[in-house]
Amino acid sequence: MSSFEEVFGTTPDGSWRAPGRVNLIGEHTDYNDGLVLPIALPNQILVTASKRDDGRIAVASTGHDRVIEFAIDELVPGSVGDWAAYPAGAAWVLRESGYPIGGANLLVDSDLPSGAGLSSSAALLCATSVALLGLRDIEFDPAEVARLAQLAENQYVGAPVGLMDQMASMCCTAGHALYFDIRAMSTDQIPFDPAADDLALLVVDVKAPHRHVDGEYAARRRSCEEAAAELGVPALRSIAYDDLDDALKRLQDGVVRRRVRHVVTEIRRVEEAVELMRAGRLRDVGPLFTASHVSMRDDFEITVPELDVAVDTALEAGALGARMTGGGFDGCIIALTEASTADAVLSAIEKAFAEHGFSAPSALAAAPSAGASRSD
Ligand code: GLA
Repeated sequence: MSSFEEVFGTTPDGSWRAPGRVNLIGEHTDYNDGLVLPIALPNQILVTASKRDDGRIAVASTGHDRVIEFAIDELVPGSVGDWAAYPAGAAWVLRESGYPIGGANLLVDSDLPSGAGLSSSAALLCATSVALLGLRDIEFDPAEVARLAQLAENQYVGAPVGLMDQMASMCCTAGHALYFDIRAMSTDQIPFDPAADDLALLVVDVKAPHRHVDGEYAARRRSCEEAAAELGVPALRSIAYDDLDDALKRLQDGVVRRRVRHVVTEIRRVEEAVELMRAGRLRDVGPLFTASHVSMRDDFEITVPELDVAVDTALEAGALGARMTGGGFDGCIIALTEASTADAVLSAIEKAFAEHGFSAPSALAAAPSAGASRSD
């Protein structure tokens, strides 16, 4: 691994970090103006940086040899490709929003597996943003940086993602889950400490093979927006849980009906999970995780066999609840278990994967961690 000095021939001015996330519950609800409940992971992207005075940004990653360079003034959506699109997108959106950022050398390091559905793209956008702002001592509001990072991902990179991942990366705090109401743009930190209740949150990366599902996320988002238009509401959040049956009767298409049912019931499950957590009844959140998975499997249709086998096996091995987390089609499951059964649940999943001929899964520590910050 090359050091900053070896890559850029100068010493760094500082390092900034932004974490990945795991969502406890509330999937595909963010772009429906709904509710989400992510925690930030200890795994993160670290950007080590030095100022340049020529208005250019050079980015390198400890995982790649090449240094990619561009002028901040010349950035237009899509002008920088590959993984460097994320740091370029961060610089573009900050420039467009009038932040007086300047040139920089950036070395990106990560202990966040990419492609595991843990939001490495949001973490890269957020880490770059706080590095570019921090280098120039520019004050910022974390939620505003999250919103800009989403804008960069939507408009510069071209991925129609919601705002959950960037908010988790910027606004989570250690020991808490972030209860984020997208419509109200309000957040509440919900204490989350499974170990205090003799529980464990297991995060298992199922390492599903890459399937050709590009476009599935956008298709889900489109279905939801079309359904909202058909129902005459700005977003599916406007459909109250108690009015769901009426709304479903008004929709012609069976697929669209199922998509709507997922979103409306999932938003309700987030509310219920938060009520239970506030009442100190974390064990009772388990069944909500499982109901969420069933809804994603049958109604939203975003699971794959690896995710379903991992969830079913976790439940058979005694987990209190389990669900896939993130955008779907790949990534991780989470399982809430008694602390004493966490190892047995993981072993059962490993055994089931071997029997199915799946790649070996891997577990991650899921201590709820802090959002983006300067790291030195
Ligand atoms: C991805 C997106 C998020 C969110 C989740 C699903 O992680 O980036 O905005 O929509 O999928 O909940």
